[in-house]
Amino acid sequence: MLDIAFAKPALPKSGALVLFLAEEESLSGLGRQADEATGGAISRALAAAEFKGKKHQACTILAPGAGLSRVVVVGRGRAGEQSQLNLEEAGGTAAAALREAPEAALSAGGMSAAEAASLALGAVLRAYRFDRYRTREKPEDQAKLARLTVLADDPTRARAAWGPMKAVAEGVYLSRDLVSEPPNVLNPAEMARRCTELTRLGLDVEVLGPRELTELRFGALLGVSQGSVNEPRVVIMRWNGLRSNSAGANRRKEGRTEERKQGRPVAFIGKGVTFDSGGISIKPAAGMEDMKWDMAGAGTVVGLMAALAGRRAKVDAVGLVGLVENMPSGSAQRPGDVVTTYSGQTVEIINTDAEGRMVLSDVLWYCQEKFNPRFMVNLATLTGAIIISLGHEYAGLFSNDDDLSAKLAAAGEASGEKVWRMPLGDAYDRLLKSDIADMKHVGGRPGGSITAAQFLKRFVNGKPWAHLDIAGTAWSSKDAACVPKGATAYGVRLLERLVADHYES
Ligand code: BES
Ligand code: MN
Ligand code: ZN
Repeated sequence: MLDIAFAKPALPKSGALVLFLAEEESLSGLGRQADEATGGAISRALAAAEFKGKKHQACTILAPGAGLSRVVVVGRGRAGEQSQLNLEEAGGTAAAALREAPEAALSAGGMSAAEAASLALGAVLRAYRFDRYRTREKPEDQAKLARLTVLADDPTRARAAWGPMKAVAEGVYLSRDLVSEPPNVLNPAEMARRCTELTRLGLDVEVLGPRELTELRFGALLGVSQGSVNEPRVVIMRWNGLRSNSAGANRRKEGRTEERKQGRPVAFIGKGVTFDSGGISIKPAAGMEDMKWDMAGAGTVVGLMAALAGRRAKVDAVGLVGLVENMPSGSAQRPGDVVTTYSGQTVEIINTDAEGRMVLSDVLWYCQEKFNPRFMVNLATLTGAIIISLGHEYAGLFSNDDDLSAKLAAAGEASGEKVWRMPLGDAYDRLLKSDIADMKHVGGRPGGSITAAQFLKRFVNGKPWAHLDIAGTAWSSKDAACVPKGATAYGVRLLERLVADHYES
């Protein structure tokens, strides 16, 4: 991760300098100083480039004088629209423009401590790279940016604001790492092993293997994994932020009510299919390599739990991931099979490529039964159909709870990880009627994302629940301001925001 430092605004004597300018705004403070020191090189360049300060606009001036290697001016958009997200994106745009500079100073004069730290967050998120398997990369192809100094009016307060943001960035990095890993490396056992490493952050981590899952009768999940030599895992991660340190004193003071709240965590559940070949209902060869990221829902849950623990969030949270590999083989599940799920309900298998909902059904039932959570949010790269509905801009939101849905929608707008609510209803649910079992798991092509959600709804036992179909948002084929192409870690920021805004005491 980029090294982030904070210092008082002062013109650097060397290296790169980044200035942020809103529309209609002219150079002031450090920007004016730099312009004067370089004999007007910056204002001349901005005029020649017709720089307007638009969002995501960047103007790079190489060797402007005064010892500086470059000055990058980044647009902040309209003066009236200066959200935290806007500043993160400006920081991200700056990081992209700075790739070849080893270190740079970001001018954050006139900004609050949180705003200054947001620049750093955006830059760090954009600078992510997964290069573990590149052994022959030429130095000129490698990113050189290693250190950013944020020049803030109150560096001490900005550094304090950066602390929790850094924990969130680390959660995003972890999630992107997991999702980027190839499927021969990241099988269910390896993913579970990486989850256990999070005990270093103070999380309790419990791993259920094939023996425990068989004993518990996780028939739906085991049916998916039975064709693979890579055995399944379910990982349960617990963060007890209300019990730890400072919260303890409050609890003693407030007595019962706090106790009760502490007993009911918020819960996050992720689909973790480490490779989805489709099984016997095998997928076409073209693009099948993408199915290494069919564990992105689980990757998000792991990154989120790391973020909450990393910033010592004052919340009790559980994260559960169902980890399987979906493969065809002589022992694989067949279309026509009937399985008994952990809930006791039976399911007729129609298409072994609709495996994600099977994995989630057992984990959802287990979660509500074991933890009686305040709500459950599950994430899954569940259906290709959601990409047809919403493209790559919004995740599909399906929920039995209007309040939770509204909170998720607001957190989506604030974090930039947007959700769009989709309908549920009895007419869709009826499409799951089976001639042999309690239900079938596929309702046909029309409304494919909705019938998938209806299936999940049968396993939440009426508890407040939201399902995010992230098939369109978990992976990106092009760079965005704070998200380089590849694994996005979609959902970490969204759910971290949901918790911070509504569920911390
Ligand atoms: N993992 C896929 C969904 C998916 C597709 C994710 C494309 C990301 C990109 C899921 O397991 C799947 O195969 N769904 C099927 C369901 C169908 C068989 C009812 C689908 O969407 O085609
Ligand atoms: Mn599938
Ligand atoms: Zn899948």
